[in-house]
Amino acid sequence: EKAGYKHFMLKEIFEQPQAITNTVSGRINLESGVVNLPEVGLLPKDLEDIDRIFLVACGTSWHAALVAKYWIEEFARIPVEVDIASEFRYRTLLMNRRVLTVSISQSGETADTLAGIRIARKMGAKILTICNVVGSTMTREADGTIYTHAGPEIGVASTKAFISQLSALFLFSLYLGQIRGTIDGATGKRYGRALIDIATVVAEELPRLQEEIGSLVENYYDSRDFLFIGRGLNFPIALEGALKLKEISYIHAEGYASGELKHGPIALIDKDMPVLALVPRDKVYQKSISNVEEIKARQGRVIVIGTKGDDYLHNITDDVIYMPEVDEVVNPILYTVPAQLLSYQIAVKRGCDVDQPRNLAKSVTVE
Ligand code: M6R
Repeated sequence: EKAGYKHFMLKEIFEQPQAITNTVSGRINLESGVVNLPEVGLLPKDLEDIDRIFLVACGTSWHAALVAKYWIEEFARIPVEVDIASEFRYRTLLMNRRVLTVSISQSGETADTLAGIRIARKMGAKILTICNVVGSTMTREADGTIYTHAGPEIGVASTKAFISQLSALFLFSLYLGQIRGTIDGATGKRYGRALIDIATVVAEELPRLQEEIGSLVENYYDSRDFLFIGRGLNFPIALEGALKLKEISYIHAEGYASGELKHGPIALIDKDMPVLALVPRDKVYQKSISNVEEIKARQGRVIVIGTKGDDYLHNITDDVIYMPEVDEVVNPILYTVPAQLLSYQIAVKRGCDVDQPRNLAKSVTVE
C-alpha cells in the first residue's frame, strides 16, 4: 500500500507530478493555452459580473488561497480577500450577489469552511469549491466544484492535495483572466505551458532533492525553532513549509514574509535559529538577497533555495539547494517540494510518526 515508500507522506510527495497532471489534464488546450472549466457551474456572464472574490479555507488549504490571491489579481484583475474560515464566519461580511466565494478544502468536510460557505450563500453570494473528495458535503452545497483529482491522501500532513489545489487555482485564475479579457493570448499560452510543464520538472527534480536535502538534515534536525521566509508568491510557501515542519516534527517553526523580518523576528536570529529562505531569481530577488545577508550578519544559519546557475548564493550561505529556472508564476508549485522534503526528513530523523502526528486528524469536523 505504501508502494515501497517508508511513509505515506513520502509516497504522496512523490505522487505530486501525477497529481498535477491529473488536475490539469483535459482542462487546458495544449496548443492555445485556453482553459475550459465547465464544472465551475457559473455562466461566463456571471463570471464577468463578479467584482470581488473571497477565498475561504483552513490550514494548508488557506496557504493555497494566499497564493491564489496573487494569481487572480494578476491574471484577472479582480480584488481578492483571503480568509481563515474560522474568522470569516464570525466577522461582518460585506457580501452581495456580485461576490464569488470560493472554498478550498481537501476533504470537503472541514466544519468551519463549510459553515463559511453556508453563510455566504445565505447572503446571496455565488459559491465555488475546490475540493479533492468526490461527493463531499462542500461539493454538494456549492454552485460548482473544481475537483483536484489528487487521489486519496492518507498522510495527515497535506502534500499532493496542496500541489493539486495550487494547480486548480492557477487554472481557475487563468480561466477568469481569459473570460474577462485581462490576459492576452500569448501570455495565456505561456502560463498554460508553464503549468503543464511543471509536472515534468517536479518529477525530474524529486530524486535529487530527496538526496541533497537528506545530506543537509544532519545539521538541522535537532533545532528547537525554525524560520521559513519568502516573498511574493513564495511567502505563502514559507508559511506552508513552517506548518509542515511543526505538524510532523514538533519543532516550533514560523513562516514570515521576508520583508517583515526587520519588524521583529530578526531579534530571534542567532546560531540556534536556522532559517530556510526561498530566493528564486524573480522580480523580488534583490530584496530577498538582502534579507539573507541581514540574517548572515547576525550569525544566523540559512538554507537558501534558489535558481540553478545563481552562483552568488554560495557567497552568502553554505547550504544552497538549487531549483531549475521556470516561469516565475509557477514557482510556488516548484518551491513547495523542497520545503516538504526538508520537513519530512527532519521529522523522520527525529523518530516522529510522520503519517499520524499527535493531536491531529485528517479531517477537522469540529469547530
Ligand atoms: O480538508 P481541508 O483542506 O479543509 O483541511 C484543512 C486543514 O485541516 C488541513 O490542511 C491541515 O492544515 C493539514 N493537516 C495540513 O497539513
